[in-house]
Amino acid sequence: MIDFTEVNRKYFDQLATTYQDRFARAVKTITEQTQQHRLWLSDRWTDTAAGQGQEVKMLEYACGPGTVSMALAPFLTNVVGIDVASNMVDEYNRNAQAAGLGEKVTGHVADLLAESVPAEFSGPEFNDFDVVTVSMALHHFEHPDQALKRLAARLKQGGVCYIIDLVAQASHGHGDDHGHDHGHSHGHTHRRQSLDLDDAAATIKTHGFSRADMLNLFEDAGLTVGFEHKVLSEPLELTKDGKAITKTVFIARAQRV
Ligand SMILES: C[S@@+](CC[C@H](N)C(=O)[O-])C[C@H]1O[C@@H](n2cnc3c(N)ncnc32)[C@H](O)[C@@H]1O
Repeated sequence: MIDFTEVNRKYFDQLATTYQDRFARAVKTITEQTQQHRLWLSDRWTDTAAGQGQEVKMLEYACGPGTVSMALAPFLTNVVGIDVASNMVDEYNRNAQAAGLGEKVTGHVADLLAESVPAEFSGPEFNDFDVVTVSMALHHFEHPDQALKRLAARLKQGGVCYIIDLVAQASHGHGDDHGHDHGHSHGHTHRRQSLDLDDAAATIKTHGFSRADMLNLFEDAGLTVGFEHKVLSEPLELTKDGKAITKTVFIARAQRV
């Protein structure tokens, strides 16, 4: 039985030090879009009436180098990044230090989607978040539905889940169109029989999500209030076989009751 999370961990550990350069344009787009949509995704920030003078905490799960964390940290009191790849967490903590955010932004290595999660991640520091975000990683999870349930449980009442991911393609073929560096093209889930760790496709479980997919995932996770979904007009620039390609992404949000 293939351990899907372990395949991801190994792949992203290898990619960690070059990730931000390799995907510089995509990182820039996610940063800008997140900042532009900040008040759309939540009304609780350190500079808004709803959050001013209070603790406002965010969890970025599968944080990688922390694209969303670094974009939103100026408007939060505490930011926790968690990823299974320790080299990614090193990049995350380095970025936080470099941005002068080390006091309130901290990265940790953990698998919060595992059957049993170490007790240290059950304390108040890792619960009752105002925002839980997953950027460009939901498609890497073996069970996106279970993942959202587990992550939603870490939100406080009224807290917001914010997802950025690939739009499922309306039509698709089968076969070999899996291998771009971020590796997505089909609107379904599947499991490959053999794995090549140099192959990004091996790390992907779901090839994009439709608006209806997101609505269902959120509702099943108890995120039944305030669903919003937007396809971004600016696509993400990625690479496939060394060539630039673009992928359409969405942002979506919903709140825990
Ligand atoms: C494409 S990167 C996205 C990184 C970052 N969120 C961003 O937007 O730039 C995917 C990240 O998901 C992490 N990842 C994959 N599966 C995971 C899992 N089951 N639990 C936690 N992190 C996971 C990888 O280690 C990697 O850092």
